[in-house]
Amino acid sequence: MRKIDIFDTTLRDGEQSPGVSLNLAEKIEIAKQLERLGVDIIEAGFPASSNGDFESVKTIAEVVKDSSVTGLSRVLKSDIDVAWEALKNSAEPRIHVFVATSPIHMKHKLMQTPDEVVESAVSAVKYAAERFPIVQWSAEDACRSDRDFLVRIIKEVIDAGARVINIPDTVGYRSPNEYGEIIKHLRDNVPNIDKVKLSAHCHDDLGMAVANSLSGIENGIEQVECTINGIGERAGNASLEEIAVALHIRKDHYQAETNIKFNEIKRTSSLVSKLTGMIVPANKAVVGANAFAHQSGIHQDGMLKEKTTYEIITPELVGFETKLVLGKLSGRNAFNEKAKELGFELDKNELKKAFTAFKDLADKKKEITDDDIYAILTENRFEASASPYYEIEQLQVQYDTNNIATATISLKTSDGGTVKAMEKGSGSVDAIYNTLESIIGMKIVLKDYKLQSIGEGKDALAQVNVKVDINGKKINGHATVQDVLEASAKAYLNAVNRVMTVQANKKVASN
Ligand code: KIV
Ligand code: ZN
Repeated sequence: MRKIDIFDTTLRDGEQSPGVSLNLAEKIEIAKQLERLGVDIIEAGFPASSNGDFESVKTIAEVVKDSSVTGLSRVLKSDIDVAWEALKNSAEPRIHVFVATSPIHMKHKLMQTPDEVVESAVSAVKYAAERFPIVQWSAEDACRSDRDFLVRIIKEVIDAGARVINIPDTVGYRSPNEYGEIIKHLRDNVPNIDKVKLSAHCHDDLGMAVANSLSGIENGIEQVECTINGIGERAGNASLEEIAVALHIRKDHYQAETNIKFNEIKRTSSLVSKLTGMIVPANKAVVGANAFAHQSGIHQDGMLKEKTTYEIITPELVGFETKLVLGKLSGRNAFNEKAKELGFELDKNELKKAFTAFKDLADKKKEITDDDIYAILTENRFEASASPYYEIEQLQVQYDTNNIATATISLKTSDGGTVKAMEKGSGSVDAIYNTLESIIGMKIVLKDYKLQSIGEGKDALAQVNVKVDINGKKINGHATVQDVLEASAKAYLNAVNRVMTVQANKKVASN
């Protein structure tokens, strides 16, 4: 079996999905979950692109130990210097340097000749290799580049010190046969190609990102770049879970394996979906809610007789089973053990808060599952790191079918005060949002609202994702609590608190 490295770019290319913006605490939580999932390399961001990205790459590089952490960089010494500052403390510092190589990009975007592009790529890789033990170089838009030029520049950057060469299908243009053919061509024609690992990075504009990545593997690719749930620029990137499971289920064909811990897949997918607000379609392969549902009578009959009639992947393999774990009477130690099993090392204070949240839920919910505990633990982390401007002190909603809904809300403010208001609305959520808007005193337009349950049962936790527009800026918010109306209010406040934090940071920066 060949070993295929999984390079996850959820926090870089995935975060480039329209409308997605993660804060530091959320990025750290995703990075830790990716580490638990067993990815080999985490691309944590683009350090030179903003102070926020620099901070998050640096923090992730310091907290993640079992995966290698990398950051993106243009072929600029200044970018490489910033990346080194962010990554130098990581377990295995690596950098991902890229420059475009297609005629379209070189002429219209870079406005450089091919010779100039070779020169800047070579000098950047040399400069990076003086600092980083592992330098990866990417030929942006490789798949629409001239083959001879690609062979030439790859040879030169390998001589300059690159150890991984990434071949992106940046605009998702190629078919699987063509992508595999490009990889084969490079293996046959770049004289020093055996000194490096070849990596695939495919986009999904024509729905072929996973197929192209697998075709790359059939033709000698040893690393695949992908994202959880396939999120990413435009139509997204190749989906990590689909590639890993395809290699596993069809190992007879691919003769390749990864380090992915399959039973962490569902949890990782749910976390990324919740924090990015990008809901997983029910029919999505591997992680969609219907991926293991059998509807037609004939299929159900077959499943009852013999599961393999219609099931090639078991839900258990990818972590779909709901384990009933703890109950009302479970103690602090049992809770802490469960938290450890889920990968959370809690300090005294965190344990106290999380255990209280667990007890509150256990009073109201009959069966507590792994998913519930995971939701409590992650919510707890976000609350601890947030220092929000507004917090709900009390929420009361009056609704009956014959009258207009009314919400009365009091909020605690970060300066220790309390603000209160009451407004009406055409439904309970509308009344809550009108009341919050009136208290906060900003024009807030709700652009999107999604409600999902975590697990099954009428007492399940509710997850709400919202997108709001505040002064022309679109921002996401999320919350997971048992009551649907409370989750709605908290998700909205979560978005508002983010805007307030960004504004406060800007003020500090301009002072
Ligand atoms: O799609 C792409 O070409 C990229 C590169 C920066 C690797 O994301
Ligand atoms: Zn990309």
